Amino acid sequence: MSVQAAIRRKTAPDIFAGKGGEPIVMLTSYHAHTAALVDRHCDVILVGDSLGNVMHGFETTVPVTLDMMILQGRAVMRGSQHALVVVDMPFGSYEASKEQAFHSAVRILKETQCGAVKLEGGERMAETVAFLTQRGIPVMGHIGLTPQSINTLGSFRAQGREEGSWEPIENDARAISQAGAFSIVIEAVAEPLARKITGEIAAPTIGIGASAACDGQVLVLEDMLGLSPRTPKFVRRYGELGPAIEAAIKGYAADVRSRNFPGPEHVYGMKAKA
Ligand code: KIV
Repeated sequence: MSVQAAIRRKTAPDIFAGKGGEPIVMLTSYHAHTAALVDRHCDVILVGDSLGNVMHGFETTVPVTLDMMILQGRAVMRGSQHALVVVDMPFGSYEASKEQAFHSAVRILKETQCGAVKLEGGERMAETVAFLTQRGIPVMGHIGLTPQSINTLGSFRAQGREEGSWEPIENDARAISQAGAFSIVIEAVAEPLARKITGEIAAPTIGIGASAACDGQVLVLEDMLGLSPRTPKFVRRYGELGPAIEAAIKGYAADVRSRNFPGPEHVYGMKAKA
């Protein structure tokens, strides 16, 4: 028994058991302070490889490395107490073989102490998902639009827009669920397909641009806060922090330039002598 007070975090089995119940609330976070805020209201915090876009300004998630994910995963674990923290496996860290995936996932779990990993891909990744889950690694799947494949997809277009193109996406969902994933992110697929998949598989579905028909939702925190310069059309904004932050910086810069700045009497609570 740990000497520290036991903090009960949500687990992958808790999320799996939530299928058909209250919608699962998930947001991304990459650092300790936002993780503490997200933790108060969300079931799952995703340390997404979207940190490549948001924190580093890359055009795609392809350049993100395992070390980058682990560093931010550790920060999010320090900042949060209750939510399940899921860390994305970055491009190139799991596709070569199930053994490569196992070694990368073990590094993530040991070095961050997070509760689960997420990887992209459908049927082609099913064997890997089964290999990991059978060895004690909870896996969240990610199907539909899979941004790590941008160089073969050619664009970040919505998937499954015509009914004729649904079957491979349904097969992906079934394969990953049957392989043991505790939940599956469905990105940018049409509402009727998201509804159909959600009704067909055991794992809870978590939509991003995939309608309210899913068992839960995820957004990139900076997108919904109005901090990202460009956001996908489906993102509903819950704040306009970009302009608010810029106004604060502008006020600070003006104060510094006009020497209107608090002296030590303010900082240390001293009263200036009259
Ligand atoms: O990297 C990420 O933030 C994600 C979400 C968009 C689901 O994978």
